[in-house]
Amino acid sequence: MEVAYGTNEHMIKLVNDLLDVSRMESGKMEYVFIETDLDSFVKETVGLFMEIATTKGITLTYIPVKDKIPPIFIDQDKMRTAIQNVIENACEYTLRGGKIDVRISKQARNVVISVADSGIGIRPEHIPRLSNKFFRTEEAVKMCPNGSGLGLFITQGILNRHGGSLRVESKIGKGSDVKLVFPLERELAPQVELAKEAV
Ligand SMILES: Nc1ncnc2c1ncn2[C@@H]1O[C@H](COP(=O)(O)OP(=O)(O)OP(=O)(O)O)[C@@H](O)[C@H]1O
Ligand SMILES: [Mg+2]
Repeated sequence: MEVAYGTNEHMIKLVNDLLDVSRMESGKMEYVFIETDLDSFVKETVGLFMEIATTKGITLTYIPVKDKIPPIFIDQDKMRTAIQNVIENACEYTLRGGKIDVRISKQARNVVISVADSGIGIRPEHIPRLSNKFFRTEEAVKMCPNGSGLGLFITQGILNRHGGSLRVESKIGKGSDVKLVFPLERELAPQVELAKEAV
């Protein structure tokens, strides 16, 4: 039963990811921007992974914000997907006994959501390729053969539409810090027409 359930879940995720990719590439992804309290939004999103992390023997922690973050305009469903993809990776590519810290900060005119894990890490030459469609490192394939290499492509597309980008720092064997960076001010995000070309 459990295997069948897992396979089914995997298929649903794959189909949804392929649909997202297709919508992005044809400029048909619809965005609805809503003013959002990022602190509680990210905290809630992290909460969705507590059980998975605990089952895997990983300590997942949301570290409350130090900087005061003003309400920010985001598409909540899309941004949730973007953050989930990154936390999911941290859970996937971290061994039992490891830890994941999620925190928000302000850097100049940007907000930064950082997901730092003590996992398998990424070789420096692979970092620029992480958000390429279907790219997976050998280390990741060994650890988890089932991935499709679409998660970060989708996350990058969603961040583009928010005027932002993905930044990754990592040391092989030590861990990774994957950051979602996007502007605090709505005016700095691209207009719809521009985003359709950019994504
Ligand atoms: N936290 C991380 N630690 C180590 N490697 C990572 C991490 N996050 C991403 N990667 C690397 O980046 C690759 C791309 O990630 P991405 O989420 O796009 O695909 P995936 O996890 O392989 O599959 P899926 O589309 O099912 O999420 C991964 O296969 C892995 O090699
Ligand atoms: Mg992934």
